[in-house]
Amino acid sequence: MNSVSSVPFSGTKAQEAELLAWLEEHKDMKGLAMPALQEAQRIYGYVPFEVQKLISETINVPLEELYGITTFYSMFKLYPSGKYKISVCLGTACYVKGSENIYNKLKMMLGVEDGQCTADGKFSLESCRCIGACGLAPVMTINSDVYGKLTGDELESILAKYN
Ligand code: FES
Repeated sequence: MNSVSSVPFSGTKAQEAELLAWLEEHKDMKGLAMPALQEAQRIYGYVPFEVQKLISETINVPLEELYGITTFYSMFKLYPSGKYKISVCLGTACYVKGSENIYNKLKMMLGVEDGQCTADGKFSLESCRCIGACGLAPVMTINSDVYGKLTGDELESILAKYN
């Protein structure tokens, strides 16, 4: 499995131009930092360091403030989603059936932390709360596929199905 933790930033000039145009248009807005980050996430799909730096320099808000906002509010993603988005349920029913062990094993196998994506862009991993399939606990989803009554031993063969 992969051993590097995240995909390099690959924002385009067109995305940058779109964000800069939005910032110019809204430069007089009060409390611009939050909406600017939301707009950046809409454009890029996430708000990595490079984008936060661009916003910081453009609207003169300290990078630390932007970083504080993006790490405090769970709506912000600091890493891109992978081609295959793995989500492990850590809701109560799944948790008591050992989903945390599965989640930790996946982190180790993929070499990523929560919310991160493998360097090849293939898998991203996140935890989630109850997805309403408690009868199948412990549960994980990969994009729209649902895997229930999971054991750690199955993970390797499940991941191997995704190319
Ligand atoms: S707690 Fe995991 S599906 Fe409900």
